[in-house]
Amino acid sequence: MNRFEGKVIIVTGAGSGIGAGTARRFLQEGAFVVVNGRREHKLHETIAGFDAAKSLIHPGDVSDEAYIKRLIDDTVTRFGKLDVLVNNAGIATFGPFEQTTTEVWRKTMATDLEGVFFACREALPHLTKTKGSIVNLSSASGLGGDWGLSAYNAAKGAVTNFTRALALEYGSRGVRINAVAPSLTSTDATADLEKLESVIAAFRDRLPIGRAATPDEVAGVIAFLASEDAIFINGVNLPVDGGLHASNGQPNFLKLLAQG
Ligand SMILES: NC(=O)c1ccc[n+]([C@@H]2O[C@H](COP(=O)([O-])OP(=O)(O)OC[C@H]3O[C@@H](n4cnc5c(N)ncnc54)[C@H](O)[C@@H]3O)[C@@H](O)[C@H]2O)c1
Repeated sequence: MNRFEGKVIIVTGAGSGIGAGTARRFLQEGAFVVVNGRREHKLHETIAGFDAAKSLIHPGDVSDEAYIKRLIDDTVTRFGKLDVLVNNAGIATFGPFEQTTTEVWRKTMATDLEGVFFACREALPHLTKTKGSIVNLSSASGLGGDWGLSAYNAAKGAVTNFTRALALEYGSRGVRINAVAPSLTSTDATADLEKLESVIAAFRDRLPIGRAATPDEVAGVIAFLASEDAIFINGVNLPVDGGLHASNGQPNFLKLLAQG
């Protein structure tokens, strides 16, 4: 498919995981892609094998307001416009609430929420010109609470509702704003967690599909939301969770009955 031929797309946090998969998916489908991330060498790895003229490596911290202005300005200067913004950069710190320091709280909010705010604010004047779209990375953790992720839950919950609010304000101006809400996806961020057999077994139990997603599987949904195929989808937080969201949270009666 070449759904993004001639389109100009920014992907933040594109040095690894879902962001790297998403940047490559857009490059495969013909887009010009600006890849942001903190580690420049990782951004080179992301675009390796693609036409260098079709991408721009733009290292920097999304929580830095001045940097985000440069990211958007440099994109438009280089490629002449902006069609899609994917706010993917994010961090999560596990731990009980009583161990959540002010530093962890602020860093989580600065990256996962303020970075999204800065980028949306700077990008929207350009997106209204191109009738473009935004895809934010919310999370299953932005649709409900977790044990041990309170700061992350607060930030992603805010991203979920921020996505809805912007969709209301910009829909009439021709800009669609959506989010994806993945559950466990195998990336650098989850590598330590996934080393524990008990974690894998618990997710196998809770996710009807029975395994973690791959970054490319989430990237495919991000690309769908950004594409013309999703032209009438606006303001959704689309679960990419193998069916987790279909459960009301009650235990698996069939499994319990079978166990006796
Ligand atoms: N992996 C999962 O299970 C999962 C589930 C739901 C949502 N998400 C969300 O998906 C997004 C991508 O996560 P991932 O799992 O691919 O993790 P990852 O750690 O592989 O990728 C995140 C990327 O963001 C970059 N980044 C972090 N802080 C940044 C900053 N301040 N400025 C610029 N770049 C920064 C990192 O360097 C990294 O390359 C995040 O928003 C995450 O919250 C992940």
